[in-house]
Amino acid sequence: MLSATLRLSKGEPLESRLAMTDPFSGLRVAVTGGTSGLGLALVRELISRGARVAFVARLRERVEQVARENPGAHGIVGDVSVKEDIYPIAIQITGDLGGLDILINNASDLGPTPLPMLSDTECEDLEHVFATNVFGPFRLTKALMGALAASAREGRGAVVLNVSSDAAVNAYPGWGSYGSSKAALHHMSRIWNEEHAAEGVRFLSLDPGDMDTPMHAAAIPDADPATLKRPEQSAHEFLEAIAAEMMVESHVSR
Ligand SMILES: NC(=O)c1ccc[n+]([C@@H]2O[C@H](COP(=O)([O-])OP(=O)(O)OC[C@H]3O[C@@H](n4cnc5c(N)ncnc54)[C@H](OP(=O)(O)O)[C@@H]3O)[C@@H](O)[C@H]2O)c1
Repeated sequence: MLSATLRLSKGEPLESRLAMTDPFSGLRVAVTGGTSGLGLALVRELISRGARVAFVARLRERVEQVARENPGAHGIVGDVSVKEDIYPIAIQITGDLGGLDILINNASDLGPTPLPMLSDTECEDLEHVFATNVFGPFRLTKALMGALAASAREGRGAVVLNVSSDAAVNAYPGWGSYGSSKAALHHMSRIWNEEHAAEGVRFLSLDPGDMDTPMHAAAIPDADPATLKRPEQSAHEFLEAIAAEMMVESHVSR
């Protein structure tokens, strides 16, 4: 038994709501890095599907702009790589949304560009990449585990999605800091998933594919955008994967 009950706020069983309405309608979702690329596409699709959304990024002006353009989305200014920012971010997420059902750890750091070989990488740059891509998601997930466990107990389909990369599994020269940090996050996700399965909190680690975003342009400036995925497509695929995970949950608990 993965969760005691699987009921959403309107009192209907999750399975029938999944069949009748959008599975994200009324769910409380937090997205880090929600002002650009994949994170922004996730915020937009989630809002359009009736989710209650909080998003995090560092640049205040951009956070305010995205919040204005997406009525109902709660913008939070914070830096996931900074230890002192994590509790204020977590408190704002649960305060703004009244709890949390889905956490998407999407914010990420490539490190300096052009991407240096690992042996030419400064220790401080490696530390900063890990602070953003590993310790940020680690601290934020830890700070929000109580809210996610409560969501699972209430049958609201608690899921954490950690955004990974093919660089987590392929050894691309020049991608040492980023690739090793994504490998750490990917494996951490797998362990978390085992550790929290019994209480009904599920962890996904997914690669969105090569997308036409500012991060990709910084990493590979001469890439032809026409050959890259639109972030909207990856966002939609990710939400379908989360919905499928919630559907598995509803079957397992019965
Ligand atoms: N683009 C690709 O082809 C590709 C391929 C595989 C995986 N990915 C992964 O997909 C995810 C999204 O990438 P993207 O290409 O959409 O990136 P992006 O366009 O560069 O957007 C990054 C977002 O994260 C925010 N951010 C960065 N550092 C942050 C921090 N320390 N704290 C809080 N927010 C922070 C940025 O806003 P601020 O700068 O204002 O903070 C921005 O909103 C990342 O996890 C990336 O590793 C991307």
